[in-house]
Amino acid sequence: MSESSKQTRTPLIAANWKMHKIPPEAADFVSALKAAVLPLEGREVVICPSFTSLEAVRQAIQGTPFRLGAQNMHEQASGAFTGEVSASMLLAAGCRYVILGHSERRQFFGETHEWVNRKVRAALAAGLIPIFCVGEKLPEREAGQTMNVIRQQVRGGLQGFSSKEIGPLVIAYEPVWAIGTGKTATPAQAQEVHAFIRQIIVELFDASRAASLRILYGGSIKPDNIDDLMAQADIDGGLVGGASLESASFARIVSFQVSTPHVSTS
Ligand code: 13P
Repeated sequence: MSESSKQTRTPLIAANWKMHKIPPEAADFVSALKAAVLPLEGREVVICPSFTSLEAVRQAIQGTPFRLGAQNMHEQASGAFTGEVSASMLLAAGCRYVILGHSERRQFFGETHEWVNRKVRAALAAGLIPIFCVGEKLPEREAGQTMNVIRQQVRGGLQGFSSKEIGPLVIAYEPVWAIGTGKTATPAQAQEVHAFIRQIIVELFDASRAASLRILYGGSIKPDNIDDLMAQADIDGGLVGGASLESASFARIVSFQVSTPHVSTS
């Protein structure tokens, strides 16, 4: 994909707080973030707290361009599913985004391609924007299986959709070996997989859908590596775990700067 198509995609930085922060901590974080990064220019910011802090973040971001996201949802609209939360509940709670198929959901809660596919369908049908996650494990990378794994995950998650149906869906590439390990993929490693994902979207849908799709990188994003990652032609933002828990480090990530024009390799 060319550098010029990158210019048409608004960069998106999303905080995935995972199982951290109670409501007052969430509100304090947002106050500090507002002071540090507003007004936002040329970028979108999404905060994904735990369910119990959605309301605190919703209130704290009122009047700002920050958006609210959830970390998971159930694929059914309602019913006897103790402990689960539906798309309409998330919408009513003020969410615009929902993270789906995160590797921790796949690994610890047994989410399969088919299951993630159903969740993506339910989220889109309800009007939520999925942040659909894919990523290979270390043994898969070492065995030279990265691209096969990514192809299966992307095809599995998006199977049965038309280009129109996937709407504003966002993909996040999160190599499992880079999550919470401090071991970031190099910008070149990430770019290679991002370009590959964009090519799969060309095959599944069409070139214009691929050109407008935002693909985020996730896995040990830090203030000191975000600028180099964002300089890559096919990296359109970040899904940030650990470094999104501190307002100062997340503010620096949101304030990424791309100084040197990148020469596209794909
Ligand atoms: P870390 O930034 O802590 O590596 O987590 C990445 C992640 O899983 C975001 O969804």
